[in-house]
Amino acid sequence: MSSWGNDVKISVFGESHGNGIGVVIDGLPAGEKLNLDEIYLQMSRRAPGKDKAATPRAERDIPEILSGLLNDTTTGAPLCAVIRNTNVRSGDYGNVLNCPRPGHADYTGYVRYNGFNDIRGGGHFSGRLTAPLVFAGAVCRQILEKKGIKIAAHISSIGDIEDERFNGADISCELMDRLSKTTFGLIDQSREEKMRALIEECRLSQDSIGGTIECAVTGMPVGAGSPMFNGIENVISSIIFGIPAVKGIEFGSGFDGAKLRGSQNNDEFYYDNGVVKTRTNNHGGILGGISSGMPIIFRTAIKPTPSISVKQRTVDLNSKSDSELEIHGRHDPCIVVRAVPVIESAAAVAIINILSEVHKL
Ligand SMILES: Cc1cc2nc3c(=O)[nH]c(=O)nc-3n(C[C@H](O)[C@H](O)[C@H](O)COP(=O)(O)O)c2cc1C
Repeated sequence: MSSWGNDVKISVFGESHGNGIGVVIDGLPAGEKLNLDEIYLQMSRRAPGKDKAATPRAERDIPEILSGLLNDTTTGAPLCAVIRNTNVRSGDYGNVLNCPRPGHADYTGYVRYNGFNDIRGGGHFSGRLTAPLVFAGAVCRQILEKKGIKIAAHISSIGDIEDERFNGADISCELMDRLSKTTFGLIDQSREEKMRALIEECRLSQDSIGGTIECAVTGMPVGAGSPMFNGIENVISSIIFGIPAVKGIEFGSGFDGAKLRGSQNNDEFYYDNGVVKTRTNNHGGILGGISSGMPIIFRTAIKPTPSISVKQRTVDLNSKSDSELEIHGRHDPCIVVRAVPVIESAAAVAIINILSEVHKL
């Protein structure tokens, strides 16, 4: 399904090489004044052609708002935004029609939709469908920001080159603000050159590279979320896995925590001016599916871009024989860079739903 959420529900529509893509956001509170420049800024962080490590497909990604906004203020009616597809070169996909790209959704989509799916540019499976998600997230994060909740992510690794991690017990507003506005977000900016060099090396060898993204949510009130099947981890994971190329997620100390002892992994409580806090944040701000008031921290694994131009083996679905494929077209040598604002946006949509459930926004 391409719809997600309960109290604030998003429906993403469109295909990469169709007329346009977009989103309907239903259930937003009325009377929220939105800063449209802030929305465009978030969309331009994700847009192709903005960073030299991204695909040269230069889409402007300017959303046209069809409903739900009057004088830049939410009316309470469904908010619908459309982004026209302008920079389409479907000819690049001619050879993919019968020969599915290894690592992409061409084969599974073909079987699932009996060959009727629009395969051009990945169709509805394309990374381009994350543009409307960023629009929805940009709206939600503005509403959250007014409640003191900030969301920011950074590139935590490209290949085996790592950035520093968030200090989950103490994340400054300055760091959150800097990361949530940049296109190559790093905590330690001195790692940028090495990461870019690795991406460029992969691009020149007609290959691609994966990585991880770490996201933090600060200012989260204590006591939001639910146990068992509707916990904060469940809700965040559910929307994060809606982002193409996401293959894993971990919260707090995550898989590293599985190597520790309880005495090392537990986060001891203390009072800070009457507020209960933890001295460390291995729990990633979530205990029993419910927020502890500490920053929520999670990391996602992003696989290497499947479309690479080096020759690969595949099958020809028409002749039912083995075949070979050389992929043309414009593809990111590394998805991670442009996926950072997408992760933040998905987190914003998740958090607004989590808060609506308990506190009613
Ligand atoms: C921002 C973003 C950009 C992407 N760009 C590309 C791309 O240029 N080429 C490509 O093959 N896949 C790209 N992808 C990934 C594919 O859409 C994805 O791998 C594919 O739909 C299969 O889904 P899965 O990897 O989640 O299984 C991108 C994903 C994101 C989030």
